[in-house]
Amino acid sequence: MPKRLLAALILCAAPLAGQQAQALYDESRVPAYTLPDALTLTGGGKVRDAKTWTARRRPQILALYRTEVFGRSPAPPARLNYEVEAVDGGALGGKALRKIVTIRLGAKPEDPKMNLLVYLPAGAKKPSGVFLGMSFAGIWTVANDAGVPLGGQWVRNRETRVWEKQPATEKDRGASASRWQVEKILDAGYGLAVFDYGDVEPDFVGGMKYGIRPLFFKPGQTEPAADEWGAIGAWAWAASRAMDYLEKDPNVDARHVALFGHSRLGKTALWCGAQDTRFAIVIANESGEGGAAISRRLYGERTRNLNSSFPHWFDGNFKKYNDREDQMPFDSPMLLALTAPRGLYVASAEEDRWSDPKGEFLGAANASAVWALFGKQGIGTMEMPGLHQPVGQTVRYHIRAGKHDVTAYDWEQYIQFARDLWK
Ligand code: GCU
Repeated sequence: MPKRLLAALILCAAPLAGQQAQALYDESRVPAYTLPDALTLTGGGKVRDAKTWTARRRPQILALYRTEVFGRSPAPPARLNYEVEAVDGGALGGKALRKIVTIRLGAKPEDPKMNLLVYLPAGAKKPSGVFLGMSFAGIWTVANDAGVPLGGQWVRNRETRVWEKQPATEKDRGASASRWQVEKILDAGYGLAVFDYGDVEPDFVGGMKYGIRPLFFKPGQTEPAADEWGAIGAWAWAASRAMDYLEKDPNVDARHVALFGHSRLGKTALWCGAQDTRFAIVIANESGEGGAAISRRLYGERTRNLNSSFPHWFDGNFKKYNDREDQMPFDSPMLLALTAPRGLYVASAEEDRWSDPKGEFLGAANASAVWALFGKQGIGTMEMPGLHQPVGQTVRYHIRAGKHDVTAYDWEQYIQFARDLWK
């Protein structure tokens, strides 16, 4: 992550540090809880087969998350408006075919547009499976690649504390390379496509006006309604537009696209994959509260923390669950189950207690019953594994040593998961 961006995130996260220090981290104080049953229909009756899940239960859960959590998103545009700006068959020392694509997110030329950086294995004989990732910073931070033009990025001015868009500098190039592991991905025969979430809506309170949400307001509307999308919904919508492009790229095997996100973008990946079944795999790296972690455990981050530090992420209705996690008609296993029967990977880091690693594991373990309806094995155990021991088949989980981050170890597991599912 570029240093300036990091400084800006730390600045805006200052009150969060206090919340993190005060959170519940004592497993013996986690309350007893009962999860709402993913396999009981609203209105009664048990879901016993894949058909009932797909036709009846899945839409109910999707509607719940749509109204109560992330908010409704607009329909896809009638036609994708994009330009392939640059193509280079010998990028990254000859390893990669690199494309830089501009996707216009609105109808007017001044509307937000996002840049998609695509690396594909050079000289591939057939279309390649791709990891589509959402990034916290500009696409030039992904690799040390002088062929990617520098752009602008949102930073918070230290003196005025006002957010402003500033040009990136040479030292930002490749600044998040350790989080992307593009060489490992290419060596495995897959591609990597990345866009910067800040192109879609910058991530701060008040950032909405620079992003895509106002494009969809009704005349006179200035704020989203209580059941309309928050910023996570906007980022997720944009990931679907990136998928629209990938479907058109002849070098991409669009049936094999894995959507990857870390942390708040892990929450975003789960919500995008829930709505957009074109993604064959969804990967939520340390997605925590509002993502894979079970809210009712109250361990680490709470719903109130999310809604107070990041009120722009979720919809208005979600605010009513502050301190009322036990009243939620949903919990994370239901969100995770919306990926079934496709591949789902949930990952944690040992020191990332704020994200509640055990809650993330239990989210995936409890969701696995839905994969069983399709004759697929999910996590396959209710015992949390030790460090560096991935468990599960079509639903997989690992916890690694270290902090909240994305590392080479994480990518090695995601690549292996894609190999196992796409063989
Ligand atoms: C904060 C926030 C988390 C989020 C994380 C991130 O810690 O409380 O919910 O996942 O930021 O996106 O890095």
